[in-house]
Amino acid sequence: MEGMAAPHPTITDEQLHSALETVIDPEIRRPITELGMVDSAAVDENGHATVTVLLTVSGCPLKDTITKDTTNALMAVEGVVDVDVTLGVMTDEQRADLKAHLRGGQAEREIPFAKPGSLTRVYAVASGKGGVGKSSITANLAASLAEQGLKVGVVDADIYGFSIPRMLGVTHAPTQVDDMILPPIASEVKVISIGMFVPGNQPVVWRGPMLHRALQQFLSDVFWGDLDVLLLDLPPGTGDIAISVAQLIPGSEILVVTTPQQAAAEVAERAGSIAMQTHQRLVGVIENMSWLELPDGSRQELFGSGGGQVVSESLSRTVGAEVPLLGQIPLDVSLREGADHGNPVVDSNPDGPAAVALRGIAKGLATRSRGLAGRSLGLTPTGR
Ligand SMILES: Nc1ncnc2c1ncn2[C@@H]1O[C@H](COP(=O)(O)OP(=O)(O)OP(=O)(O)O)[C@@H](O)[C@H]1O
Ligand SMILES: [Mg+2]
Repeated sequence: MEGMAAPHPTITDEQLHSALETVIDPEIRRPITELGMVDSAAVDENGHATVTVLLTVSGCPLKDTITKDTTNALMAVEGVVDVDVTLGVMTDEQRADLKAHLRGGQAEREIPFAKPGSLTRVYAVASGKGGVGKSSITANLAASLAEQGLKVGVVDADIYGFSIPRMLGVTHAPTQVDDMILPPIASEVKVISIGMFVPGNQPVVWRGPMLHRALQQFLSDVFWGDLDVLLLDLPPGTGDIAISVAQLIPGSEILVVTTPQQAAAEVAERAGSIAMQTHQRLVGVIENMSWLELPDGSRQELFGSGGGQVVSESLSRTVGAEVPLLGQIPLDVSLREGADHGNPVVDSNPDGPAAVALRGIAKGLATRSRGLAGRSLGLTPTGR
């Protein structure tokens, strides 16, 4: 029927193309035209537009978004009165072309962040003790850096105790295009976590080599695009994963998290000094749970004071270069609530005391120049 109608007298193919160029694939974040997803598009003499969009995989969780965005884009063309979107699926060959295009000539199974010319700053968030707020800090720094316009990714490298997806509000699973994984995007951050690959809430029982392999896959098989910053949320302690990170991305740098408590500070130092062995640079120390602001404006130091400063000074002595205290984050109920609801506190309560502190730290990281000083010149991990 539609094939019978004559083409629209004024709307050109170029106009259609420019309109469709504004439709961004929600997972890959590039125009659908560039990704080879537009199979055909036409407008008949009555202003009835028909377009066929090819999805990467048939079960694409975001097909409704693509349909809606495509419809809106074409409706914006003068003369179009309605839009009929047909969804198809790419052939194996089309998918292979897409993958090649996204990889930009890079060999498969390569870790883009490990290449010498990589412009992505990689920060591993580490601590000696568990429960000091690494994951909360990772999630919020990521959201805050993204808010400042940086392209940000997060790897939840805490394989046993993954918590990042929930904190950032990830709602759907990654899409797999053959062996390429498209990371879900939440709070404008690309996120990947082992939690997305295990059914339900099952515990993961893997040994060292499996962990290394999982991390390697997160780094090489996930389509990250051009990131400004990649944050890795590490498990507590100085375990296998920390060593794996150093091996897989020698240029990665370490952020040490501690509480003000003396005991926590001592353990944090040990976690920090692992950087000496792995030749990684220590970016600085973040003190969390520093105090609770009381209604009268005074501060109650529930966990003592000075831990962050102690770790900063001690690590500075150890590495022979300044390892600054990057900030102190007070206790803040809205931080915990934000984490529970998948809405980071930097977004949900941006004027609260924790959000202000976190944003300050993120600003400092965003404006840090990369430089070559302190970067690893080869790696000799010493094992545990
Ligand atoms: N500044 C803060 N104010 C209030 N609650 C906080 C703060 N920092 C962290 N929390 C809460 O403390 C708990 C532990 O935080 P989080 O999971 O981020 O720590 P972690 O270091 O990643 O833990 P693990 O070692 O288990 O991975 C969470 O419930 C979190 O919401
Ligand atoms: Mg954690």
